[in-house]
Amino acid sequence: MTDRCNLRCRYCMPEGGVVSLGHDAILSYEELFRVARVAVELGVRKIRLTGGEPLVRKGLLGFVEALAKLPQQPEITLTSNGLLLAENALALKEAGLARVNVSLDSLRPERFAHLTRCDALEQVWRGVHSAEAAGLTPIKINMVPILGVNEDEIADFARLTFAHPWQVRFIEFMPLSPELEYSTEQLYPAANIYADLQKIAGLTEVARQGPAGPARLYQFEGAQGSVGIIPAVSEHFCRECNRLRLTADGQLRPCLLAPQEIDLRTMLRAGVSDQVLAEQLEKSVAAKPQQHHLDKGDGTGGRHMQGIGG
Ligand code: 5AD
Ligand code: SF4
Repeated sequence: MTDRCNLRCRYCMPEGGVVSLGHDAILSYEELFRVARVAVELGVRKIRLTGGEPLVRKGLLGFVEALAKLPQQPEITLTSNGLLLAENALALKEAGLARVNVSLDSLRPERFAHLTRCDALEQVWRGVHSAEAAGLTPIKINMVPILGVNEDEIADFARLTFAHPWQVRFIEFMPLSPELEYSTEQLYPAANIYADLQKIAGLTEVARQGPAGPARLYQFEGAQGSVGIIPAVSEHFCRECNRLRLTADGQLRPCLLAPQEIDLRTMLRAGVSDQVLAEQLEKSVAAKPQQHHLDKGDGTGGRHMQGIGG
């Protein structure tokens, strides 16, 4: 939706932010809707709105509403840092949003403030509860444990699932850019996350339904919610991944980590037909790589996470 964000998470954004894409560089809502419509006509059933922070883009509610009204009724979801969620949750639900993933890396106010360069934990927490009250459920929380930074909070996050029917997912830290903070040595591997979870209580694996997301899901005995691990680096779940990404500036990517982009923006503005757009989407699916090469230091091809959409 946008490359802009109202936080500056140290592993994602430089302190001064990034040079923002100009108004003309990013796809208009009409252009975005057109790509979404063609994708849905091809059989795409799920659309996730990401950023940057999607809620900083004006007009998002109307866009959600338009997507939700497509006759094929795709599932519309949102990934948000939660800052603007409290004031928007109800309207998002009414517009047709199904649910929300909230990115949250610390439950300690001071540490949250350090990590995101913004003292706003309470506001995010209110956002999570508003989203739940509005029925944007099941709530999913994304936490990225980083060694020496917040990996000691894995248990605190995991224990949230006893009292709440949430899915708390731990995403392996992907060291994507040497310009950003935290290095490869601070990667906290999935195996360690799993070992930490096992110390808390009895864990059973939850069966995954169909081509679900990349999370491996577990549940503690007596818990209402579930915990997940996304082994982004140490495992290659690429074979199971069925996602395409469209950047705010209109580049279609077959993968978070593969740099081959198709320039849909130029095509859209040159007035190509729906048929041509459909062919590009199919081409991008065919270009999905067998596996990523993060371990060889191959990242995202010059973009930070906020420019690809997590
Ligand atoms: N490694 C792992 N996860 C990341 N995210 C952003 N940057 C990284 C990274 N380098 C996560 C955010 C958010 C999701 C969209 O992507 O924390 O939850
Ligand atoms: Fe913003 Fe998400 Fe990047 Fe944090 S990780 S700066 S919330 S886009």
